[in-house]
Amino acid sequence: MKIKRILKWSVIVIALALLVWFQIAYWTSTNDYDRRTAAANHPMKAIVYSDYGLSNLKLENIEKPTPNDDQILVKVRAASINPYDWHFVEGKPYIMRMMGVGLRKPKDIQLGVDFAGTVEAVGKNVTQFKPGDDVFGGRGGAFAEYVCRRAEGAVALKPANLTFEQAASVNIAGITALQALRDKGKVQQGQKVLINGASGGVGTFAVQIAKSLGADVTGVCSTRNVDLVRSLGADHVIDYTKEDFAKGAERYDVILDNVPNHTLSECRRVLNPKGKYVLIGGGGPNDSRWIGPFGRIIKTMVLSPFINQQMGMMMADANHDDLTILADMMQSGKMKAVIDRTYKLSEVPAAIAYLEEGHARGKVIITVE
Ligand SMILES: NC(=O)c1ccc[n+]([C@@H]2O[C@H](COP(=O)([O-])OP(=O)(O)OC[C@H]3O[C@@H](n4cnc5c(N)ncnc54)[C@H](OP(=O)(O)O)[C@@H]3O)[C@@H](O)[C@H]2O)c1
Repeated sequence: MKIKRILKWSVIVIALALLVWFQIAYWTSTNDYDRRTAAANHPMKAIVYSDYGLSNLKLENIEKPTPNDDQILVKVRAASINPYDWHFVEGKPYIMRMMGVGLRKPKDIQLGVDFAGTVEAVGKNVTQFKPGDDVFGGRGGAFAEYVCRRAEGAVALKPANLTFEQAASVNIAGITALQALRDKGKVQQGQKVLINGASGGVGTFAVQIAKSLGADVTGVCSTRNVDLVRSLGADHVIDYTKEDFAKGAERYDVILDNVPNHTLSECRRVLNPKGKYVLIGGGGPNDSRWIGPFGRIIKTMVLSPFINQQMGMMMADANHDDLTILADMMQSGKMKAVIDRTYKLSEVPAAIAYLEEGHARGKVIITVE
């Protein structure tokens, strides 16, 4: 009886302590927006936000960054938008706020990742790049006139025959497509690969990468994008407004799912007995605002050990070597960037709002003058 009472009170005390901790953490959650947007000695323009929500994005002057010994300073000429940016703008799914993004307000007031530009200065330990080099890659805070990033990270030389806009489109979408097909899907010559969401940022790169790996490629998109997906090399195109790939007779060796709009069992039905299902997408505005794509990721992980088909989620890991592989493919004409719309730096909120609709054709680009 006594033990029961002790247990009951322990649970109540722990729950109350957690509630108090959460309240304190929530109300003390803040950022350095006011300090960083106060008069700067060496100003640069950047998209910043003090609170979650698209309407809070502003183009302000903040201090231009200075590279440390291992970094390069890049004058950004173009950036690109990804669904990833939308998650940070909205702070959704909410679970990511508890994972360090900022409970009440975003911890980091800058946005954007993918960039292309020209190296303006290098730290004293940097040997890979020199001032004047044109480069592309990824770094938090790319919606700005300048970014600093470690020279050893996700940055590579831009091929001379690519525009800054084309190069800025590559980092997240291109790396995701490459790693999903080559590393997770282990696509082999002659295999049948289905790409669900073939006309978006990841999909347009994925169709071309799957073709270059020798696969027989089926792309899924809406009517207006059928010709685009075919022109990228897809052998077959399924117009999802007319036909459901999950109800078809064809069986695939690899499914790359950029738009998880089918149940896992529907996907398994059209997967060969030893096929691989690679989940990358999910968590858009219509998904659960609390856990976003995590519910499906957990279901995939739980199911996988009990079946012969391999089902798994992959997260892109941006790095220099894969950026160089993608740059070489684009330089030699094996792959091209599909650019949908181009916006100015001041128009980042409109660009994100457009991407959020979920029907971009290829990449949405920001030009920085
Ligand atoms: N795991 C990772 O590391 C990682 C990395 C990058 C992206 N992602 C995720 O992957 C997803 C795709 O990213 P993205 O950059 O390609 O997004 P995106 O550019 O916004 O993709 C939009 C595309 O989805 C297509 N689409 C919409 N509804 C569809 C449907 N019912 N069936 C087939 N296609 C449909 C649209 O084609 P229509 O206009 O023809 O409908 C449009 O072309 C996002 O959820 C993103 O968060 C994950």
